[in-house]
Amino acid sequence: MMSLFNSGASSNVEDAELRKRGYALCSELGSGSYAKVKSAFSEKLTKKVALKIIDRKKAPRDFQQKFLPRELEVMKQMAHRNVVELYEIMASAEKVYIVMELAAHGDLLEYIKLRGALPEKDCRYFFRQLVDGIEYLHSLNIAHRDLKCENVLLDVNNTLKISDFGFAKVCAAKDLSDTFCGSAAYAAPEVLRGIPYNPATYDIWSIGIILYIMCCGSMPFDDSNMRRMIKEQLSKKLSYSRSKRICHDVKDLIGAILEPDVRIRLKVDGIKNSVWLRDKSSYTPPATPESKNGGSECSGANASSSKQSDDTNQN
Ligand SMILES: Nc1ncnc2c1ncn2[C@@H]1O[C@H](COP(=O)(O)OP(=O)(O)O)[C@@H](O)[C@H]1O
Ligand SMILES: [Mg+2]
Repeated sequence: MMSLFNSGASSNVEDAELRKRGYALCSELGSGSYAKVKSAFSEKLTKKVALKIIDRKKAPRDFQQKFLPRELEVMKQMAHRNVVELYEIMASAEKVYIVMELAAHGDLLEYIKLRGALPEKDCRYFFRQLVDGIEYLHSLNIAHRDLKCENVLLDVNNTLKISDFGFAKVCAAKDLSDTFCGSAAYAAPEVLRGIPYNPATYDIWSIGIILYIMCCGSMPFDDSNMRRMIKEQLSKKLSYSRSKRICHDVKDLIGAILEPDVRIRLKVDGIKNSVWLRDKSSYTPPATPESKNGGSECSGANASSSKQSDDTNQN
């Protein structure tokens, strides 16, 4: 009872605070440990945006002092069509609001959950953009360190946008990290084994996992047992269901990205020059159905929230 009243009160305060700043809240798009993401109508921009709302009370000290400032700093530097655009950062005593471009088709995990394995041409269409975005980040010496389907978004035209810079780090090409970041299912063997790792090389592994998921509609490794998973990663044996008819060129590419030996794991150039990605056969962007978050009405204080459910265990 109490908590219901409390959360209602706090969200009314939030609505009023945002309304004063020119934003009318619409619906909830997602949520994480310390943040909620909502769509809102911006009076200034006269369009819908996404608001990542971070509750300072819920966030631990190291998040507030280390990871959040990094996330904001990194986002301020970004300007690329395949990276989510930051519009504004606002702060109150209790909340931090990150205002960014709205990805109306949601995240790649939801997209794949609805459709299963994607057609090969759509995989290529999305993966090329993911590689372009990563190339851009790495050219600025920024590593993401939490690349997974939930952090890859699609806008209303199905243009791919890399998002969530909560674990991003500015690091020179040769710097090594030893902080475990991201999700085990997308983590490279060197990260899982606690070996100091090159963050950019780690990102490459994670996009290999994303490519496998797009092509197969399933995870390449079972992350319920870490020891066994590392063994599977090191054995270099990837299994593909016959019924999916995955082509050899993409299997070769995935195999060269999910290479446990970091010295020979493909780099961005190698990926871009791979036979599969070089294929210039004509294709059109995936069909764009009715936008998920583009059409609903925005209200002020009574904004409805329809939280997405995340019932898969892919973290
Ligand atoms: N700009 C956006 N447009 C649409 N949906 C978004 C946007 N940003 C985040 N989301 C949704 O909210 C979820 C959580 O946002 P994210 O920034 O990844 O927060 P966290 O740091 O808690 O993981 C995402 O997985 C996605 O589904
Ligand atoms: Mg996230």
